[in-house]
Amino acid sequence: MAFSCLMPTSILCVCLGNICRSPAAEAVLAQKIAIAGMSIEVDSAGTGDWHIGHAPDSRMQKHAKARGYNLAKMVARQVIPDDFYRFDIIMAMDSNNLANLQKMAVQLPAIDPNGQPQARLVLFSEEDPNYCGQSVPDPYYGTAENFEQVLDQIESSADAWINAWHC
Ligand code: 4NP
Repeated sequence: MAFSCLMPTSILCVCLGNICRSPAAEAVLAQKIAIAGMSIEVDSAGTGDWHIGHAPDSRMQKHAKARGYNLAKMVARQVIPDDFYRFDIIMAMDSNNLANLQKMAVQLPAIDPNGQPQARLVLFSEEDPNYCGQSVPDPYYGTAENFEQVLDQIESSADAWINAWHC
């Protein structure tokens, strides 16, 4: 919470496959940032490599489109070491991915050769009073209702971040 008033200039949303939760989080955050008149770069990536080069999951595309988010042009990629210096904040969608990002971070220099410090690692719902401290659940083997619940949580937590940066 102590850093919440510092508006970042760049954010990376991270899940496991980069085909369900993090592309949705990228699109939702980007839209809410634009509506708020803020200038923040948003991207997404996965800790896993199974879906590199794939479009977002068709179920997530469908559910997101119904809420006005177009994921069609996104392409999945894996987190790389450079991401830890390229982004101000890396937002993990769940505690497993946060733990994996923390393991990657400790293997990397605290500051890169250009003097850039490592990104702050957080949970996507960290600032959200409605879902405080909760992971965004993996919907991959779930139902249509699970995809809707994931989008409800992502929209709520994106609003919470925007509110936190409005001070
Ligand atoms: P995501 O969902 O991490 O939200 O993109 C998943 C996508 C694929 C798999 C697991 C989760 N998978 O096991 O292939």
